[in-house]
Amino acid sequence: MKKKFRIIKYKPNIKPALKLKNISKAFEGRPILQDLHLSLQPGSINGLLGENGSGKTTLFSLIVGILKADSGEIFAKGGALISDLPIHERCRKFRISYVPQKLSLLSGLSCQDNIRGLCQITMNDNRKIDEICDRLLTEFSLLDVAKVKAGELSGGQAKRLSIARALINDPDIILLDEIFSALSPKIVEAIKKLIMNLQTSRKSLTILISDHIYNHILDLADLVHILSDGYIVKSDKPTNIIKDKISIKAYFGESS
Ligand SMILES: Nc1ncnc2c1ncn2[C@@H]1O[C@H](COP(=O)(O)OP(=O)(O)OP(=O)(O)O)[C@@H](O)[C@H]1O
Ligand SMILES: [Mg+2]
Repeated sequence: MKKKFRIIKYKPNIKPALKLKNISKAFEGRPILQDLHLSLQPGSINGLLGENGSGKTTLFSLIVGILKADSGEIFAKGGALISDLPIHERCRKFRISYVPQKLSLLSGLSCQDNIRGLCQITMNDNRKIDEICDRLLTEFSLLDVAKVKAGELSGGQAKRLSIARALINDPDIILLDEIFSALSPKIVEAIKKLIMNLQTSRKSLTILISDHIYNHILDLADLVHILSDGYIVKSDKPTNIIKDKISIKAYFGESS
């Protein structure tokens, strides 16, 4: 499924929803990210493409606050510096949500309690919690399995539940790491449709999404960012990036 039209036109001068400046990160002296710059426009879907081990998950972890960069700065909406803030502040104050590559559902709890439990951390109005829970279960076609334990859900249902949970705090930015991995084609299409719907239903939501299969990213993204050698070597529209020499050399390969 391809987007029928681009909702966002890339405007270089608009204030970014998220900006990474000179980010570097090494593990045990091995540099993974080096002097990386990345800017995400509000309301846009951004694809992050990079080979296995290029540092995509590391980059997500730095944005959300699971890891701390060795150097560089991260700015959220309004130019606020967030790189020194703990995870919970980035999540609550700057509304950054994360669906990790290795899903973090509570497997012993039902689908609805995975949503409800997370709501209860920040809310105490039970009517509001029920309303959010019903709305998300409906939006993500999970009503039929509302009482099924998360550990017993199919891969597609678990991914949908993880995205639903990430929307509880009404995020400004949502990070989706390898969201299509291990899913069959029909389920991939269903999740792509869900992501496109997110862009139309939540106009200011900025999405950063990584995947190994670049066609999924090219179908969805307004802008694609290629991560190679520790930094973003190219950011461009899907139609341009597949023809770009630097991107072909760094990621797509000559046969694409
Ligand atoms: N906590 C850690 N300690 C040491 N090395 C790490 C750690 N996290 C990641 N790495 C290393 O950093 C590199 C980048 O890993 P990362 O998981 O970010 O890549 P990726 O692009 O997400 O890969 P994939 O596409 O396979 O998910 C890898 O070489 C990995 O072994
Ligand atoms: Mg990864």
